[in-house]
Amino acid sequence: MPEPRSTPSSESPLHAFITQHQARIEAALEQYLPGPDVHPARLHQAMRYAVLGGGKRVRPLLVYAAGAAVGAPLVRLDRVAGALELIHAYSLVHDDLPAMDDDDLRRGRPTCHRAFDEATAILTGDALQTLAFQILAHAPELDVEPRVRLRMIDTLAQASGSRGMAGGQAIDLAAVGQTLDIAQLEDMHIHKTGALIRASVVLGALSSDNLDEKRLGQLDHYAKCIGLAFQIQDDILDVTGDTATLGKTAGADTARAKPTYPALLGLDSARERAAGLLASALESLSGFGPEADALRGLAEYIIQRRN
Ligand code: IPE
Ligand code: IPE
Ligand code: MG
Ligand code: MG
Ligand code: MG
Repeated sequence: MPEPRSTPSSESPLHAFITQHQARIEAALEQYLPGPDVHPARLHQAMRYAVLGGGKRVRPLLVYAAGAAVGAPLVRLDRVAGALELIHAYSLVHDDLPAMDDDDLRRGRPTCHRAFDEATAILTGDALQTLAFQILAHAPELDVEPRVRLRMIDTLAQASGSRGMAGGQAIDLAAVGQTLDIAQLEDMHIHKTGALIRASVVLGALSSDNLDEKRLGQLDHYAKCIGLAFQIQDDILDVTGDTATLGKTAGADTARAKPTYPALLGLDSARERAAGLLASALESLSGFGPEADALRGLAEYIIQRRN
């Protein structure tokens, strides 16, 4: 099997899409976060530390790519992409806490509770989460119809809560040291990681004024497939990656007896499952033209990435 590519070639259209939109979300996030001197300054500094200057920004990229597939305005997508990344950053801060994965390294730097303290990290997660919903509820630039705005808030709330990411994290913690079957493992992955990835694509699509439910269904199926594939690749990288490239401690899942795809099925089967999900994701975009090329490219990137 050929070695997977780390990042798309610097001349590919996907590379250009990624770098342009990473810069765009960086500027948007900087704008949404309170400044480091705003009272209470330590909390705002921790929020900025957790969000700015790191991360692949995969969820924002999916928002922009889904928006491009259905012709959504960029100023709307900035708000939606920001909300998704804030929820994701909150989930990472809490995921790293001693009571959860107890990790010291994130995005190549000390984790939030290491750089600040545990209480500040808990509050940072809380505040990032509410800021995400505030942006969706409030931003005038997100000039969608009120019923669409409510649908976005509802979709993100479900994806983040006990039937989505937070629920998946609960399943993950309960599974430490257990042997799950494949259905239980996928259920955990679909919730802890898949739900927010799915919400990224759906909210990006909902930002268009010209969305029909059939297209939304196709995009949603694409997102379900790549959401699961994303966590399978994350599990694979925990085994095959190194700490410097990952920016987080390699081998942490094995050290903590986490049930993962490679642990249950082996690396080859894990890679085959991810490849099958990629094929299914691409198939569900078959009714789209070049406007969905960024979604196609991101799906491949998700299972080929090295960090
Ligand atoms: C890591 O997510 C946590 C998972 C859900 C697997 P990412 O791999 O997207 O992390 P960043 O945002 O690039 O740091
Ligand atoms: C994290 O899964 C999922 C969420 C943060 C919701 P992991 O625990 O595998 O993520 P990493 O490997 O620490 O980034
Ligand atoms: Mg975890
Ligand atoms: Mg973790
Ligand atoms: Mg992991």
